Parts: sequence; C-alpha cells; structure tokens
Amino acid sequence: MTLIPELPTPSLLVDLDRLERNIARMAGTFAAAGVGLRPHAKTSKCLEVVRRQLGAGALGMTCSTPAEVAWLQAAGLRDLLWAHAPVGPPKVAFVIDAVRTGGLTVALDSLEAAAPLSAAAHAAGVTVPFVLEVNTGHARLGVDPEHVPATAAALAALPGLRLRGLLTHEGHLATMPDRPSLEAAGRSAGALLARLADGLRAGGHDIDVVSVGSTPGATSAPFAAGVTEGRPGTYVYYDANQIRLGSCTIDDCALSVLARVVSVQRAGRPIIDAGIKAMSSDTIAAAGSVGRLLDSDVRFVDANEEHGFLLDPAASLTVGDLVRIVPNHACGTTNMWSHLYAVRGDEVVERWEISARY
Ligand SMILES: Cc1ncc(COP(=O)(O)O)c(C=O)c1O
Repeated sequence: MTLIPELPTPSLLVDLDRLERNIARMAGTFAAAGVGLRPHAKTSKCLEVVRRQLGAGALGMTCSTPAEVAWLQAAGLRDLLWAHAPVGPPKVAFVIDAVRTGGLTVALDSLEAAAPLSAAAHAAGVTVPFVLEVNTGHARLGVDPEHVPATAAALAALPGLRLRGLLTHEGHLATMPDRPSLEAAGRSAGALLARLADGLRAGGHDIDVVSVGSTPGATSAPFAAGVTEGRPGTYVYYDANQIRLGSCTIDDCALSVLARVVSVQRAGRPIIDAGIKAMSSDTIAAAGSVGRLLDSDVRFVDANEEHGFLLDPAASLTVGDLVRIVPNHACGTTNMWSHLYAVRGDEVVERWEISARY
C-alpha cells in the first residue's frame, strides 16, 4: 500500500470519494429532470473518469480537439459531440475519417466554415451530422440568435451535411455578479436555445439536439423546457474558480496538486516545488491566487515555472512539509500532466493516464 506522503512531488491527485460523489450527483440531477448529460472530456482527459461518467448514465461525451475525439473513438465511444470549429484542411479531413468511424456530431456556425466540410463530405460520400452553434451571450463561437433561421437553412441545404439541432456554451455566466443573476442568465440561455429550436422545427427542420453546456450553468440552463442535453465538464473535479462562482464548495474539489515546501529563507514566504508548470497559468487575479490550499489558510500568491510562492504569516510551514492545492482551473491543470494518482483518504489506489493532450 502506498500512502500520499510517499508520492513524488509535485504530483496530481484525484480524490476518489469526491470524484464519485460529483459524478453521481450530477448524473442524478439530470436523470431526475429527464435531460441528457454529455460531460466535457477535456476536464479529465482520463479514461477511468470517462468510464465512471458513462457508467453513471452519461449518454456520450463532448470534445474540444481532434485528439480528444480520436482518443475516445479508439476507446470505443460512438456518441461524441465535437464542440469546436472544424476549420482548415487537416480538421476537415479528420472529420471525414471520424464520421466514417461513427457516432460523431460536429458544431458549425457559418457558411464559410461549413462549405469546405460540405464539399469534402460530398466528395467522400459521407454525411456529417452537425449542430449550429448559437451565441447566447458568451460572444465566442456561435451565430447571433436573430441569424439562426437563415444560417440553419443555408447550412442544412448544403450537400454532405445534416442539421441535428442547436448548441450553445453559456460561458458568459462566469461574468455574472452573483449567483441569482448567474442562475437567471442560465435559464434565459436555455430557454432562448429551446425557442430557436422550436422555430427551426416550425420551419420544417428535424431537430433532435438542443445542447447547453457549462458547470456554472449546470443547475439552470439544461432545465429550461425543450433543452435535450447539458455538457458540464469541470463539475467532475470542480476547482477554485467554481467555488468563486458558487457552483461548489472546497469539500467538493476532487483534484489537487501535491507539493512540498523546499525553502523558508524568507519568513512567512515558503517556497514550494509546484509552479505554473504544475498548476497552469490560470490565476484568479482579484484574489491574487494561483490555487487554493486544502485544509489550510496559507495562500498561494505567485508562481514561477517550477516554484510556488506561499504567504504564511503564522509561519506554520517548514521545509519538507507537504501541501495540497486545488487548482483555479481543473481543465488547464489536467493538460499540464501525463498521469495522476487516484487516492482514497491517505491511500494511493491507482495511477491513471491522462490522454489527448496538446
Ligand atoms: C463548448 C463547451 N461546452 C462545455 C464546456 C464545459 O464547461 P465547464 O468547463 O464550465 O464545465 C465548455 C468549457 O469550456 C465548452 O467550451
């Protein structure tokens, strides 16, 4: 039996009790509401986590990159939504291959993006199922709501493509001033997407997907009448950003970086062996925080590549001490690592691979 203090530092840890509770809770909420759950795979990039999500009833997974799609298809998954723009010849060629493998739906938001894919699909003799991405406030990808009917009609008319429905990422919820406004904005985003989908049905389109997706919005947007699925990702681990947004408490945070104090040359300013390359560069600027320590009031205030700067006014830490840090952004932290350790209590249960990184 290996115990956490025996692991090398820094190491990435996932607390199995918290992971299983997060998966079960989200799956239970969605099942009770009769809404499909399609978690975003980018948060974990880990097959052991994905298998647990599918085992709890997730209907399929969401992906950001071709590498994630290829990884999950190789693992046998056949219900994947690639929620990014398949633009440029390498991505177009990838989509044709992945659609041949089976079970892939892509997202599109313009004729410029759709036309080369349509031409390639037509030439290859395949039909690419797609959802039209809609901007419900995040203003990243996505056609503005008033242009949905015309854009959907134009794209649906292209050969080699099949319109399945609408998708939005309600990322603007993270900018709301408080939880009630965040919940209200989530409900509006879901309701808007469902209304637009009804409009497309009235126009003769066969719509079976109305897909919203985010962790802050996972308690609101998916439960607007007419939404068919939600795509939260971060919920599987949660993180310091989600604590700030009121999506969870620190006791829900399943991912942490194990690090060791390596120097206390300056009183009250311990240095640890985890910096940006262990945590990712997602800082919470307003809080002056690189991550949040578990079971401690000590603050993680700055970081170089492999060094972290703590603020420990009570001088509670000394050289050799271990700390565990909840990252600000779980998805970014995952992408820094090739593996993580699954722990239960103080015991290290398994070592899991992290796949499909850039
Ligand atoms: C398109 C899309 N769907 C779903 C998600 C999941 O959101 P979250 O990370 O808040 O769980 C993301 C995250 O960025 C996303 O970009």
